[in-house]
Amino acid sequence: MRVPLLDLSEQYRALSEEIRAATDEVLASQRFILGPKLAEFEKAIADYCHVPHAVGVSSGTDALLAVLMALEIGLGDAVITTAYSFFATGGCISRVGATPVFIDIDPETYNISASALKRYLDKDCHRVEGKLVNENRQTICALVPVHLFGLCCEMNEMLAVAREHDLLLIEDAAQAIGADYPLDGGSAKAGTMGDAGCFSFYPSKNLGAAGDAGLVVCRNEQFADRLRICRQHGMEARYQHRFIGGNFRLDELQAAILNVKLPHLDRWSAARRDAAKFYTNEFRRAGLDEKIKLPVQPYAESKLANHHIYHQYVIRSPRRDELREHFTGREIETAIYYPLALHEQPFFEYLGYKRGDFPEAERAARESLALPIYPEISREAQQYVVKCAAEFFE
Ligand SMILES: Cc1ncc(COP(=O)(O)O)c(C=O)c1O
Repeated sequence: MRVPLLDLSEQYRALSEEIRAATDEVLASQRFILGPKLAEFEKAIADYCHVPHAVGVSSGTDALLAVLMALEIGLGDAVITTAYSFFATGGCISRVGATPVFIDIDPETYNISASALKRYLDKDCHRVEGKLVNENRQTICALVPVHLFGLCCEMNEMLAVAREHDLLLIEDAAQAIGADYPLDGGSAKAGTMGDAGCFSFYPSKNLGAAGDAGLVVCRNEQFADRLRICRQHGMEARYQHRFIGGNFRLDELQAAILNVKLPHLDRWSAARRDAAKFYTNEFRRAGLDEKIKLPVQPYAESKLANHHIYHQYVIRSPRRDELREHFTGREIETAIYYPLALHEQPFFEYLGYKRGDFPEAERAARESLALPIYPEISREAQQYVVKCAAEFFE
């Protein structure tokens, strides 16, 4: 039985007429850039996330980049983030000229560790003329937590740290659109708790476009205006450029498709969660929870529906590579997110980190394995995955 990591064909079949009608409308209008479909999508996402402002951009990467540029973060600044994420998280920080500062992860959630973050701030940073400065005399100006695999970081802790140290808080919510977090007795959506939240609509995301697309949400109106200017090369009035931005626009065709898909997002995330629950129960029933580490659900007790949206279902095993090979031999597709921690990436060598600096991120890179998950995955396919895993550990 062949089990792909992700199969969106059924999703497309169900929506294809609506998607074609929406894209036909754009083609007939010949309005491709900054038109009504984007305005509709921005309003829909702002409503969905309960935030006043949403600014569509060209990708999740450009969402991060536009935010950093609009905040004028650059040379001499340091930005704290996790040591375990997609390259874009750290790459964008470097790209604006700032220095990424990595923090180890919590081995249970794969997200930035709040205790490691606090340790770094208390041990390695100090205040100079009101500014928080690190051992390399860079000004720590922002914190970029990543809600990895569809699970929010410990945002109560992140917010407290940001407040205490006067840091900008930029959420990399590329993998977490719609995820809920139990905030201060209530709840909040991923991306809406800090100064800005960045989403990716890369096709494989829970809400995927038919190409690249992204978006930033925020609460501050002036900042939203600045982002809108930033996504058009800093152009305020026509051909009047006050600052440097980029071509970061989300086009009408992508927005039209995303408008069709957004109303289904919660249903898809619920189906992913059901699939995750099924995997977890089946792995336990097969006695495999002793052999492989299953994903945790730290906010399940909050009773929030989207306490985890399972963008990925990630297990771990010290025998990860052998297990993966075993799955491949049985036509089960898996993925490694990510085979290197960020400080191990060749590009980040210049930062001077060494092996062992972030042991949990390094261990996750060696041991983690993403299993097939998508809303329409069949129970039969999942049972086959568990059966093959059991066979491996026999
Ligand atoms: C955590 C994280 N940040 C940023 C990005 C960048 O998003 P995009 O691929 O839309 O540029 C991704 C995309 O995979 C991601 O997973």
